[in-house]
Amino acid sequence: MKKPILLLIAILAVLIFGLAYSSSQAQKRERHQQEEALNALYAPLPSSLDALYPPQAEQPIFLFRMMEMATPYVGIVVDLFENDLQNAKNNFERFKAQYVDVSKLVPEWKKSYLLDPVEELGEVLKTGDQDEVMAAYEKVGNICHDCHLVNMVKVQQKFHWQDFRTIKVKDPLTDEQVDFRLLMQYLVTNFIGISVDTIEGQKENAQQQFQGFKARFQAMKDTCEECHATEERKYYVDESVQALVDEMGKALNKPSVDPKEVETLAQRIGMESCFKCHLVHLPAAMVKYQREKWENINRN
Ligand code: HEC
Ligand code: HEC
Ligand code: HEC
Repeated sequence: MKKPILLLIAILAVLIFGLAYSSSQAQKRERHQQEEALNALYAPLPSSLDALYPPQAEQPIFLFRMMEMATPYVGIVVDLFENDLQNAKNNFERFKAQYVDVSKLVPEWKKSYLLDPVEELGEVLKTGDQDEVMAAYEKVGNICHDCHLVNMVKVQQKFHWQDFRTIKVKDPLTDEQVDFRLLMQYLVTNFIGISVDTIEGQKENAQQQFQGFKARFQAMKDTCEECHATEERKYYVDESVQALVDEMGKALNKPSVDPKEVETLAQRIGMESCFKCHLVHLPAAMVKYQREKWENINRN
């Protein structure tokens, strides 16, 4: 082969290798960034937040400041599309001032409140070009979103979800005061007991398990209002679920109990009441407990 061709091949090889290398570097960086975000999702919240929420503060200060900041921020686009550029700019100034203020509330998060994209938004607002403003606006929106993605649910679970562990109930069968978790354990024992005894052909035992289940189900129902005020509950313990429980009672009282009928009813109660209620309430409850255990270990 002639020299120029060899040279060309060498240059191409370097180029291709270089491209492959830089794209694999970009991939690595992306993976690293996402890994950091995932770690942040599980990391405990900064302790300085405690001062911005009850019981330390009288109100959820941080939440209120976020909501306040959103008004001028959204006001920018409202006015922009109403061709009211002057008020859009006014809203921007209000937003920026609040943004800077809010960024100081939680020192550990200060670096998340990037300033460049905000200043860029202020610059393009001077031109009034809607497309350019929207592009810059989206960049600021991503700052909000990136932090919300990692921290919003954590804050909700820690500061806005009440604690199931503080709920105390009188167990109708033993008359002892039990916490919610023990009530659940009793409840599941009766619940599965119905099916177990039915399969074993022990009708009276199954009926007794059912009576226990029914009483404890009612005790559980009474706990809803600890968090949900007094209005009637829909879904997991409402009339339609109570109707399934009553049907179960009838099925067990038939002269010849049909295990299939009992099983079908158990499955429906399990799905409509237990499972769906767990789907809503367990993420907050479990994360709350685990996080507190972690915080306790780190405090000591
Ligand atoms: C460094 C983190 C962080 C940044 C940056 C941030 N937020 Fe938030 N924001 C939060 C957290 C945490 C909550 C949840 C507060 C709560 O529920 O008590 C929240 C809640 C909110 C809420 C209330 C939503 C609701 O549940 O009703 C609004 C509105 C809001 N943020 C707007 C914004 C806007 C607009 C921006 C950007 C300009 C922004 N936030 C930037 C952390 C952040
Ligand atoms: C420890 C507090 C707590 C207890 C006890 C509790 N919940 Fe909830 N539940 C919440 C919170 C917080 C939410 C989400 C915000 C809201 O709806 O208040 C929620 C949401 C719900 C929702 C979805 C929103 C709605 O209101 O339709 C349903 C349904 C629900 N709960 C049913 C129940 C039932 C049924 C019980 C009793 C068996 C119960 N909850 C007991 C805290 C609780
Ligand atoms: C409020 C809606 C709600 C309903 C309805 C509900 N549960 Fe639960 N359940 C919970 C919550 C919250 C926990 C977590 C309690 C805790 O760990 O403090 C839980 C936990 C449990 C546990 C785990 C206990 C442990 O020690 O880890 C079992 C088992 C259980 N429930 C069974 C049932 C059965 C069976 C039913 C239906 C007959 C049912 N639950 C209906 C909310 C509900």
